[in-house]
Amino acid sequence: MPRFIGKAVVVTGAGSGIGRELALAAAGRGMSVAVSDIQNGPLAETEAMLKDMGVATVAVCADVSRSGDVEWLAKNAWSELGPISIVFNNAGVGGKGGLLWEASPEDWEWTLGANLRGVVNGIRSFVPRMLSEAGSDDDFRGIVVNTASMAGLVNAPLMGAYNASKHAVVSISETLSHDLALVTDRVTCSVLCPAFVPTGIARSEGTRPAGFGNGDLSKAQALAQSLSDKAVAGGKVTAIQVAELTFNAIGRGDFYIFPHPAAVGSVRARNNDLLEGKGPSNPYAAKAGLIESLKGALAT
Ligand SMILES: NC(=O)c1ccc[n+]([C@@H]2O[C@H](COP(=O)([O-])OP(=O)(O)OC[C@H]3O[C@@H](n4cnc5c(N)ncnc54)[C@H](O)[C@@H]3O)[C@@H](O)[C@H]2O)c1
Repeated sequence: MPRFIGKAVVVTGAGSGIGRELALAAAGRGMSVAVSDIQNGPLAETEAMLKDMGVATVAVCADVSRSGDVEWLAKNAWSELGPISIVFNNAGVGGKGGLLWEASPEDWEWTLGANLRGVVNGIRSFVPRMLSEAGSDDDFRGIVVNTASMAGLVNAPLMGAYNASKHAVVSISETLSHDLALVTDRVTCSVLCPAFVPTGIARSEGTRPAGFGNGDLSKAQALAQSLSDKAVAGGKVTAIQVAELTFNAIGRGDFYIFPHPAAVGSVRARNNDLLEGKGPSNPYAAKAGLIESLKGALAT
């Protein structure tokens, strides 16, 4: 069980939702906290909340899809707060859903940039520093927590780029865990896989950087947006609960973190399909009438 008090943590995507709650939960455990986000205003709000809690904090506005920004975050966090014990590679976007063949190159670039390259950049900037710290201080323990999603383990329709980005995060996390184990037992990795949580994720279009073109929504893209609005707003586990569950899980040394254990049944179903040589069952099949209603809406 890691001792959190007096340690330092970095959280990306800390201006909202799960990231903000991870930062506040870390502060509540007596950790100093470096927070980062692509949005300055929400980031400053989180920073003010942390300062009110009396913990040492540093806020760095950074776009995780840019390796230079993440390196700048790591440099600042390390020099202001000392060795970073936990990095939460959490920033992400919902992307634009819809039928796969309608996604533009910019849609892919935006979604993979934030969700996949963000995690890659976090690993590249933080892991070597953690390994170096572990090499010189026997007491140092480092944990990399990558935020994936249940969408990294099953593939619901109309969210192809998001699914691909999150499957990649699960893949990278498993590989990172193996790679780390080859060289140290003092730095480990976990992967957070929530289902729907009521946060700002369904409104990520507002954070899409200029030059990544929004464009009009097709019928399927509008349908995907309204499905995700409804599912996210109806999420029964709050971001505060996700943060608490996550700290409890890393305290136990869990690799997979599932804030929605009931959703794991869909992973079992997918794996069974795969092992039994069947085609993929639609994860929406268990939701009475949903697939038929989607077909109907797309046909009109
Ligand atoms: N909310 C859900 O239902 C849900 C489910 C599964 C996984 N997740 C994942 O949880 C993570 C956090 O999302 P959330 O639900 O708290 O959403 P959120 O929109 O409330 O918070 C995400 C934060 O990331 C920031 N961000 C977006 N792009 C960025 C970039 N390129 N660089 C830096 N910051 C960036 C946003 O400004 C925002 O503050 C994401 O990786 C998301 O994919 C969310």
